[in-house]
Amino acid sequence: MGAHVRVPLKVILSGEHAAVYGHPAISAAVELYVEVEAEESDGDAFSVRTELGEQALGEVRATVTPSGDVRRVSSPGLGRELSYVASAIGLCTEEFSPPPAEVRIRGEAPPASGLGTSAAVSAGVIAALASLSGEELSRDRLRELVRRVELDVQGRASWVDPTTVTYGGVLSITGREFRRLDCPEDLVLVIAYSGRPSRTGEMVDRVAELLDSVGSVGERVMEAIGDLVLKVEGALESGDLRRLGELLDVNHGLLSALGVSTRELDEIVHALRRAGALGAKVTGAGGGGCAIGLFDDESRAETAAALIDAMGYRAYVTRPSPHGVRT
Ligand code: PMV
Repeated sequence: MGAHVRVPLKVILSGEHAAVYGHPAISAAVELYVEVEAEESDGDAFSVRTELGEQALGEVRATVTPSGDVRRVSSPGLGRELSYVASAIGLCTEEFSPPPAEVRIRGEAPPASGLGTSAAVSAGVIAALASLSGEELSRDRLRELVRRVELDVQGRASWVDPTTVTYGGVLSITGREFRRLDCPEDLVLVIAYSGRPSRTGEMVDRVAELLDSVGSVGERVMEAIGDLVLKVEGALESGDLRRLGELLDVNHGLLSALGVSTRELDEIVHALRRAGALGAKVTGAGGGGCAIGLFDDESRAETAAALIDAMGYRAYVTRPSPHGVRT
């Protein structure tokens, strides 16, 4: 008997970077997924196949030992997510000794695009191996394990990605605490990938250097983002999408002030606004990765996405997903 797990990707609607300084952030799981299938196998190691972000990256095959060492990789340069898979396998072995298995991972978005692919891959592998082992995992234990994988691979990790991909929904997250928010039903998002990877650790360090250099001005930008997040919560809960759009535009301006937007991301943000977005901003750490546009009308969102595609970027039309990890 095999296991099949579906995990949503995520966006940050508001509050990235300020979250590192203790302010809340609002994230949303979206209807883009990582799928993980696992089947018990005869060997003494795990065989892993990953396919992420359509044709661009192709398929990567690897063998991983139960202790989490990668033994053979078909295309070493393409296997960034393999570090997460290998670490997740090692952690599962420590926690509940799953049987060796064939693990197949498919994801709709490219890795390092700021959409939580790494956390979704980790969550999917852990949940699938737990299911093969007959191990009952609570959601909270799963999100803890996902965070441990992120800490192991990246050296640092917030709770935003592990919590959002595990629980789903639209969440207000401060440190490890989180609260589910209501979300208007007509909210549609266009997510546009700038074509460059976003490296969270590097961007967090760059922002820290800027804060050192500009002192209280930088602190005031962080406080402004923190205040803005509270207003975003209010706009979401009252279902006021026009107001939400206005706030996302201001959030983009504040993120630009922190130096995390790029020429491509600005180009996308302006194109989304011209195409009728109620608001648009960088999402996640920036420096690359994605921008999001907010819409209240699916067909307008589709037209905007086609425009972004025509500009040479990859755009996805999606909605918040109430579901987290599903087995
Ligand atoms: O790019 P992402 O999705 O990893 O988002 C990073 C969000 C930051 O606030 C920049 C960092 C963090 O750990 O909260």
